[in-house]
Amino acid sequence: MKKLAVLFSGTGTNLAYILKHLHKQNGYEVVLAISNNPDAKGIKIAQDYGVDVKIIDNKNYSSREDFDQQLVQSLNKVSPDLTILAGFMRILTVIFTDNIKSINLHPSLLPKYKGIKAIERSYASDDKIGGVSVHWVNSELDGGEIILQKSFEKYNGMSFNKFEEKIKIIEKEALKEAIIKVL
Ligand code: GAR
Repeated sequence: MKKLAVLFSGTGTNLAYILKHLHKQNGYEVVLAISNNPDAKGIKIAQDYGVDVKIIDNKNYSSREDFDQQLVQSLNKVSPDLTILAGFMRILTVIFTDNIKSINLHPSLLPKYKGIKAIERSYASDDKIGGVSVHWVNSELDGGEIILQKSFEKYNGMSFNKFEEKIKIIEKEALKEAIIKVL
């Protein structure tokens, strides 16, 4: 059984997709979900699957390093084969990246549009394609080696809603494929 841990901050649609399509199937199990946000919708989703959920609120830590130390400690307790950042909106320090083997989902074709508002910025650009990336996490924000990317045509007149909707669909497929690929 390959043990997965998922870190998330908000809605948790990517977490939900992993739970629906990988959890307790074909040798995968989500053993822990961690949210830094006590109000994240994803908390209930994970609980409904009977997955252990831990809330580690970054506001309770005075430094990024202290927060990361707590993440590392909680993850090490369950020794996941892979940790997945699925909409986890925190910048991580070397305390985390040197100790945890993890991948991150990002809603742009990296190296373009690192950081926040990636969907908005790629939509506003002159690019003729949009896309998503899954990459290894290292200490550089959205900078680790790319595992896979998926793209689509940004056709003339494509609305922002359509563009975002397309990203929300393909990012889930990309994340699932990347997990299978690296494990
Ligand atoms: C997703 O679109 C993901 O690509 C993005 O946050 C969203 C989380 O949605 N991640 C980043 O922007 C990482 N920098 P979710 O909570 O419904 O899975």
